[in-house]
Amino acid sequence: MLKNNPARNIFFVGLFAMAVFASGCGVRFDMQDQPRYKAYKKSDFFADGRASRDMVEGTVARGLLKENKAFYTGKIDNPDPNAQVQTSTDATGNTVVTSFPNAIDEFPIPVTKELIDRGEERYKINCIVCHGPVGAGDGMIVRRGFVRPPSYHVDRLRNAPVGHFFDVISNGWGRMTGQKAMIPVADRWAIVAYIRTLQASQNPEQIMRMNTGTTPAATSTPAPAASPAAQTTGGAR
Ligand code: HEC
Repeated sequence: MLKNNPARNIFFVGLFAMAVFASGCGVRFDMQDQPRYKAYKKSDFFADGRASRDMVEGTVARGLLKENKAFYTGKIDNPDPNAQVQTSTDATGNTVVTSFPNAIDEFPIPVTKELIDRGEERYKINCIVCHGPVGAGDGMIVRRGFVRPPSYHVDRLRNAPVGHFFDVISNGWGRMTGQKAMIPVADRWAIVAYIRTLQASQNPEQIMRMNTGTTPAATSTPAPAASPAAQTTGGAR
C-alpha cells in the first residue's frame, strides 16, 4: 500500500521544497541584500560624487541641545565677534586679564545653600591642592614647588565676572589646565558660587558693595547678620 502513490510523491517533494525555503539557505529577501551605499563611498547619483549626505543644517544630537548659552559657556551673545579678553603676563609668568567683554556677570542658576555646599565639596576635590583652602593660591602642591596661582582675593579677581571663573574651570587659563572633562557644568557653577563665598569670607565689605552698589555704613563692628553665603546669593555678582 505504500507503493507508487503519485499524489503522495508530489506531496513529499513539495514538503521538501518548503523546508529548504523556510530554512533560509536558499533565497533571502532581507535588507542585507538591498542595493545601498556604504558610508563615505562614491556615488554618481549626487552632483558632489559622494554617497553620504551632510546633516541638515542645525541638526543636534539627542541630548546635546545646549540652548542656554550662559549656563553652558558662561558667555553672552556678544554682537561684536572680535571682542576678546585682553591678557598680559605678570612677573611670575601668570596670565593676567582685566577686561571681560564676553563673560556673563550673573549666575545662570539660582545660588542656594545646597549649591554652595556642593561647590565647597567639589572645590576641595578639584581645586584645593593648588588654590589652597581659602583660595590664597597656597595649596599643598604649591607649597611643595608647583607654580603659584593668583589669590582669589586680589581686586582683579574679586571684580571679575562669574563667567570668567566658569571659563577658567572649563577651558583652563594660562598654566592651568581646563577641567570640563571631569567637572559637569552644574558643578562648575557650584564651584564658582563657592569661590564667591570664599571671596566674601575674606573681604565682606567689598562684596557687600558689589551687591548693593553702596558702601556699607562705617560701623565699629561689622554687621554679623549678613553671612558670606547670603551675600553671594543675594547679589548680581
Ligand atoms: C594643578 C594646579 C591647579 C588646579 C588643580 C587648579 N588650578 Fe586654577 N590655577 C592654577 C594656576 C597655576 C593658575 C595661574 C595660571 C596662569 O595665570 O597662567 C590658576 C589660575 C586660576 C584662576 C585665575 C584666572 C585669572 O584670571 O588669573 C582661577 C579663577 C582658577 N585658577 C580657578 C580654579 C578652579 C575653580 C579650580 C578647580 C576646579 C582650579 N583652578 C584648579 C593651578 C591650578
